[in-house]
Amino acid sequence: MADTATPAQDRPAVTLKPVHNMHHTAFRCRDAEQTRWFYEDVLGFKLAAAMVFDEEPGRSVKREYMHLFFQTTDGNFIAFFDVPDDVEEKMFIARHGFDQHIAFEVESMEQLKAWRRHINKMGRPCFGPIDHGFIQSIYMYDPNGVQVELTVKEPRYEAILAEDSANAHAVLKDWTARTRAVKEQRLNKDMLDQRGIDMSKVDISGLKKA
Ligand SMILES: [Fe+2]
Repeated sequence: MADTATPAQDRPAVTLKPVHNMHHTAFRCRDAEQTRWFYEDVLGFKLAAAMVFDEEPGRSVKREYMHLFFQTTDGNFIAFFDVPDDVEEKMFIARHGFDQHIAFEVESMEQLKAWRRHINKMGRPCFGPIDHGFIQSIYMYDPNGVQVELTVKEPRYEAILAEDSANAHAVLKDWTARTRAVKEQRLNKDMLDQRGIDMSKVDISGLKKA
């Protein structure tokens, strides 16, 4: 719970420590059991929690939903919301991998190909491997239109990433300059330049105080 009783200027300064690993990613699902089938029976993740709530988090809106969590071997989760009373089929149109996908790691190329055969056998079209230079990946869609990637690191993975990392800021700077004109043609310039926003103009009246 945030300390809302003490005025901000009287609270002790807190030194920020690094944010750690990913805890979970969350998507909408059409149906909890259909989603369980894919992530547990096909991909082999553990169903870690199936929590039922009757109110939207942070808002005083009554709505029953399930929050499902599947655990990966490193302790992180892929999560889903099943919200029966506002679900619509159009929410599950398969999205391009550029827009959204999630990738999980396997240990070898042999394993990657074995997983592709298994997933196809289970009736989910799976293709690849695609060689990305530093990783190789196979791709499929889950029943909710979320693209799922399984990937294996190349032997030179660490060296390739180290080289890339050393140049990343310079490459990004060049990219931003080179693509600015086309972005301005396609997007709102003010939104492109937006960074922090004036919080006094943000309406948070629908959110509960935490
Ligand atoms: Fe990817």
